[in-house]
Amino acid sequence: MIKFNEQTKIFHLQTPNSSYQILISHKGHISHVYYGTKIGDDDLSYLTRQMEYGFSNQEIFREKHSLLDFLPMEYPTDGIGDFRESALAISDAENHNGVELIYKNHKIIEETVQIPGLPCVFAENSKCQTLVITTEDAVLNVEVDLYYSVFDDCDAIVRWAKIKNNSSKTIFVNKALSAAFDMDDNNFDMITLHGSWARERHIDRRPIHMGKQGVVSKRGETSHQEHPFLAILDKTATENAGNVYGVNFIYSGNFVAEVQKNQFDSLRVTMGINPENFSWKLNSGDAFETPQAVLVFSDKGLNGMSHAFHDLYREHLIRSPFKAKPRPILINNWEATYFNFNTEKLLEIARQSKKDGIEMLVMDDGWFGKRNNDDCSLGDWVVNEEKINGGLKNLVEQVNKIGLKFGIWFEPEMISPDSDVFRSHPDWAIQIPGRVPGMSRQQLVLDIVNPEARNFAYESVAKILKSANIEYVKWDMNRQLSDIGTPCLPADQLGEYFHRYVLAVYEMQERLITDFPNLLLENCSGGGARFDPGMLYYSPQIWCSDDTDAIERLSIQEGTALMYPLSSMGAHVSVCPNHAVGRVTPFKTRGHVALSGTFGYELDITKLSDDEHSQVQKQVQNYKDYSHIVRDGDYYRIASYRENNEFDCWASITKDKKQALVTFVQVLNHPNYKSRFVKIPGLNPDKKYKATYVDEDQTQNPPVILQGSTLQNAGIKIARPWGDFGSVLIYIEMMN
Ligand code: GLA
Repeated sequence: MIKFNEQTKIFHLQTPNSSYQILISHKGHISHVYYGTKIGDDDLSYLTRQMEYGFSNQEIFREKHSLLDFLPMEYPTDGIGDFRESALAISDAENHNGVELIYKNHKIIEETVQIPGLPCVFAENSKCQTLVITTEDAVLNVEVDLYYSVFDDCDAIVRWAKIKNNSSKTIFVNKALSAAFDMDDNNFDMITLHGSWARERHIDRRPIHMGKQGVVSKRGETSHQEHPFLAILDKTATENAGNVYGVNFIYSGNFVAEVQKNQFDSLRVTMGINPENFSWKLNSGDAFETPQAVLVFSDKGLNGMSHAFHDLYREHLIRSPFKAKPRPILINNWEATYFNFNTEKLLEIARQSKKDGIEMLVMDDGWFGKRNNDDCSLGDWVVNEEKINGGLKNLVEQVNKIGLKFGIWFEPEMISPDSDVFRSHPDWAIQIPGRVPGMSRQQLVLDIVNPEARNFAYESVAKILKSANIEYVKWDMNRQLSDIGTPCLPADQLGEYFHRYVLAVYEMQERLITDFPNLLLENCSGGGARFDPGMLYYSPQIWCSDDTDAIERLSIQEGTALMYPLSSMGAHVSVCPNHAVGRVTPFKTRGHVALSGTFGYELDITKLSDDEHSQVQKQVQNYKDYSHIVRDGDYYRIASYRENNEFDCWASITKDKKQALVTFVQVLNHPNYKSRFVKIPGLNPDKKYKATYVDEDQTQNPPVILQGSTLQNAGIKIARPWGDFGSVLIYIEMMN
């Protein structure tokens, strides 16, 4: 709910459990007043400390600098005396850098507002209001609208800005972030996510220091390395208690997310498109809209923050018809065969998969052009009939006949120098004329900002999809952007390239899901380099990492689940020794860890032992019995191997608290040690529950009946697995 108080000039944005307040200050600047636990409608203008300033004790705001470098701001601007990090920088036709935003008017609308070309939150079954504060720089004759969308069913506020050039001259927007706010430092910690290929989104928690700290990408995509997310939290905040602020970005390109602690121990939080290598030419009458940033507050610790993000994304961002449905259990041939397969091999996999209960075969990289290794053919999206003997239509028909659905891999944004398409269109690769472009995996990036190249790539994909009964696409993207050059943009617009690239990806994916509305789309980028809310708008699931080792996955999935619902995390059981780390883990543990994601297989099923086949069948049954809890429930981190070096534990609990699934992984065994009692939060304390140890011998580990409060405070006994990397799965059900 959004209210405006004419007397105090305060906007009060309320979510079910949080308040966000904004003040039109004495001089008309839009000032940040409060963000946190839900509070009353008092006159909180004192929180901006407008009467206190550094250099004088005379009339307030004697000089602009002392005001602007002090006032808590909502959308700080560059060049006019707020020397902290800005959210907006504009240069005029003479290259002066200065912009100052003064309140002009506002409106409150009873819905969300879609931004053309960008992924956006939406409201379907719940109430949503949007506050639009219009501000103006009278010198530039530029208006900036600040947007805030608030939902009545989740603790999130979605922010963005629109910059309109009402002058008769061209201006350049050199920085346009999506959100900013200032607050006092309360001795906070911060959390960011870091990693690498096969090691994505590891959690890093540390104290906030003086100066600037944060995360960025300038790789043209979200990246393996850093993530458009940060959390600020009480030093004492735990999984289930304490104040936590989370900020995430609905975008899939270059970003910046920063916290700046300044001379007054105040914090400025900023998030948006990375201004490095960014400049947008705004002609007279034109507008630029930023992507959306999501702000979440919880006073119930990190799990409370995760619940708010998960609910927002499941209810208000992911559009796919698959989002609330069981996904077909798939088997992907990548780790099974790499490039070495043909029709017969795929059919062999399909036949055995069917016997074990698997529902879809996905043909990964290597089916097109002359692609027998990774140094050629990207762009030549024509079936290689030497491998797919009999053709694609025939293969899909055979697979369907066996009783499986069929899915396929593409990498539409790429072009191999060794490809027919590059030989006929050498200017379709991103490159700087005269400079040998940097290569990665022997491939270049297709210049999809060029509408002709973009259309070619899209039509190639669509043609294949129309040629057979293909029900799933894995859309991959296996290198980052460098050597930016294109014949399509003049010199004074080249700074728009990175953003235009992301817009082009979104346009292609929008076309795909519009033309093929029943398709299950899974995004991917060398594993999880483009796992972000922007892509979730197009695909309900994203491949989490190329690292399928169950133990490495604990940290990867833990960091990913900090804000993304488990239903979106691509997770498969693969073969051992694992192809990324060489580790050998029990088949059972691999199944338990993958069950907390979309679940599937990535191995040569024709080579499994009899015992492994029966384990696959058991795992498939577990998916059928329990995946609804994972998909629609609330996720709770309980213990992290990253922190305790011994074990990991998490739970999913249905919203009605009637069912829960607890996964425990004993990473390293500990000799001569006592059994563990794991405390399960989130259940109804007054109800009795029956807890069943799912894959255990029921005579040795019979079910136990315990009250919710007992499970939460005394805990449940974990029979210690023998050996390293063992796991225990517990299904908990409320009794009448
Ligand atoms: C990327 C993906 C893998 C696989 C390969 C194929 O690395 O993340 O899952 O599809 O490409 O080349």
